[in-house]
Amino acid sequence: MRLAVIGAGYVGLVSGACFADFGHTVVCIDRDAEKIAALRRGELPIFEPGLDALVANNAGQGRLAFTTDLAQGVRGAEAIFIAVGTPSRRGDGHADLSYVYAAAREAAAALEGFVVIVTKSTVPVGTGDEVERIVRETNPQADFAVVSNPEFLREGSAIGDFKRPDRIVIGASDPRARALMSEIYRPLNLNQPPLFFVDRPTSELIKYAANAFLATKITFINEIADLCEKVGANVQDVARGIGMDNRIGSKFLHAGPGYGGSCFPKDTLALVKTGQDADAPLRIVEAVAAINDSRKRGMAKKVIAACGGSVRGKTIGLLGLAFKPNTDDMREAPSLALAQALEDGGARLRVYDPVAMAQARASLTEAKFCEDAYDCASGAEALVIVTEWDMFRALDFSRLAGVMAAKTLVDLRNVYSSEDVRRRGFAYFGVGVA
Ligand SMILES: NC(=O)c1ccc[n+]([C@@H]2O[C@H](COP(=O)([O-])OP(=O)(O)OC[C@H]3O[C@@H](n4cnc5c(N)ncnc54)[C@H](O)[C@@H]3O)[C@@H](O)[C@H]2O)c1
Repeated sequence: MRLAVIGAGYVGLVSGACFADFGHTVVCIDRDAEKIAALRRGELPIFEPGLDALVANNAGQGRLAFTTDLAQGVRGAEAIFIAVGTPSRRGDGHADLSYVYAAAREAAAALEGFVVIVTKSTVPVGTGDEVERIVRETNPQADFAVVSNPEFLREGSAIGDFKRPDRIVIGASDPRARALMSEIYRPLNLNQPPLFFVDRPTSELIKYAANAFLATKITFINEIADLCEKVGANVQDVARGIGMDNRIGSKFLHAGPGYGGSCFPKDTLALVKTGQDADAPLRIVEAVAAINDSRKRGMAKKVIAACGGSVRGKTIGLLGLAFKPNTDDMREAPSLALAQALEDGGARLRVYDPVAMAQARASLTEAKFCEDAYDCASGAEALVIVTEWDMFRALDFSRLAGVMAAKTLVDLRNVYSSEDVRRRGFAYFGVGVA
């Protein structure tokens, strides 16, 4: 099949490369000319494990092409996936749909024959209706259907998630569109992912409800962690103890510095706005968003306490800047709020991340960017694990002791056991653990 993907970011590029790998012929379109030029040279604009080989392979075999020319890119496509960004709108927290609508309007003019327009971007309920209206207004002759097909991939394991999804949600009522979507995903039949057909508004809401639920789970265990610290319980054991109950499940029960990334923060906010507009306020999600917001900055208090009540004039090392391991995505990363709060408290920061250094530089303008974990720890009164990259899981503590000003580890991801670290002569501060 011939497919076009508008937006060659984390979702568009992974979707495009995976669809090509299924055997479809795919054109990825982005209006960022530098991004497209880099992709044509075989350079990836993002870090995602395995994506470079997948892109190179499929581009080499002629199934995956890149262009900035939207009209040319969508020509002849049986389905056009819109995978552009839907960030928070400045000021009110609603999803900014201007990129989605612009892509729809531009694509509309170039439609030929029956075409399915698929919103893969995360979009609020009703966006599909508006896309349909825009396309009809721009090109009254067009024969098309608008489908919602939200994406559930996780950065860092995006290819595996795309190829072995728990489910594929398709919001469509047009039988031709349903048949075409089934055909696009047919190569996955061997893995038997359930294709879940629903109406469009339901599909749009499933994505937000899923993210809000996961964000709630994280925030729940984070608050339990705070309680553990006050009453002398261990949050990791509490999480295991409740997670063994199948009704609860063990995933997303890791206490930490609060969720970040390009999805949960903006999607919880957008869902809250949808609820308020529809006179069905989502008070749990409102609380989750507010708690998480203050938590990220609040983590600085933990570091300050670990440093004896003040960080003024002190050097602090931050290990891990990306919002989670195996990505270079810095959007809403907890490291940013933490760094700001520590700098406000007078700290001098040394920072290190295995892949997100270039992306972090724009935001962390005062920090010293280091060569590795030990360089980052050099002269530090405290070393803080902010993102749990594998390479931080087996640090050489005698080497750290040799370079640090004080032997203090603040482990915001509970990577280490407190006993182990203390046995090596370090003061240890985790999250929700004694
Ligand atoms: N990143 C994730 O893990 C993830 C997971 C699931 C869903 N989503 C959703 O997918 C969508 C895309 O997210 P992302 O992280 O890939 O975004 P991104 O910012 O990495 O990429 C978006 C791309 O779209 C391009 N673009 C914007 N308007 C365009 C236009 N009119 N024509 C051509 N290109 C255009 C931008 O230049 C950019 O390269 C969002 O709605 C997001 O919520 C993201």
